Amino acid sequence: MKKVVVLTGAGISAESGLKTFRDSDGLWEGYDIQEVATPQAWDWNPKLVQEFYNMRRKACIEASPNTAHYALAKLEDKYDVTVITQNIDDLHERGGSTNVVHLHGIITRSQSSEDAELTYPIDGWELKMGEQCELGSQLRPHVVWFGEDVPMISTAMDICRQADIFILVGSSLAVYPAAGLINFVRREVPKYIIDPKIPSISLGDSFIKIEEKATIGVPELVEELLVI
Ligand code: APR
Repeated sequence: MKKVVVLTGAGISAESGLKTFRDSDGLWEGYDIQEVATPQAWDWNPKLVQEFYNMRRKACIEASPNTAHYALAKLEDKYDVTVITQNIDDLHERGGSTNVVHLHGIITRSQSSEDAELTYPIDGWELKMGEQCELGSQLRPHVVWFGEDVPMISTAMDICRQADIFILVGSSLAVYPAAGLINFVRREVPKYIIDPKIPSISLGDSFIKIEEKATIGVPELVEELLVI
């Protein structure tokens, strides 16, 4: 079975009602990134950070996968598919994809603020101050904040090296190390990018550019790949 590696960003969930980051004004739902998505923010005002992610978790739970998420799951009929996502929502899993690597964590789980390897499922949308891990420290969202290591990056690099077909969907490629993953895909591998506004960073001429929204571009490409 050929291996398809799909790297996704916020754009794939946009049509499920979850906003992208850089299509708006650089603020996340009106919040300054520095105040809600850094270890310093957690030190200064953990309650605000917790509230911010509680709202995002609620939005995620209320959202449904769209035809792009479902199409990627369908691709598993013929290919060995790994989805590497920068998204913290669980729409790929709910859309049926069975092999998903979350580079930036997943909002439906909590994490010990003492030991990042201790993570737990969250029941419902709210993670409260006072809820503790087994070591007795406050639980925080299981997401990678700006300035933190990306523990899954070397796994993701290895996966990209193994790709026979590579698909990039809905990412501005503005954030490293995730953006650098495209450099680990072998030169001769067919590469597709699906985005209504193809990012201006240099992709080289090896990418086939599909200038469409995810819900149009992904199902069309999947149909094509299923018949070849
Ligand atoms: N279908 C496909 N792509 C879309 C759609 C759509 N309907 N709508 C917007 N896009 C594209 C935009 O054109 C843009 O290229 O999705 C991309 C979204 O880019 P960003 O908002 O920068 O999101 P992303 O690349 O996922 O951000 C990476 O940065 O803020 C951090 O940790 C956060 O994981 C995130 C990372």
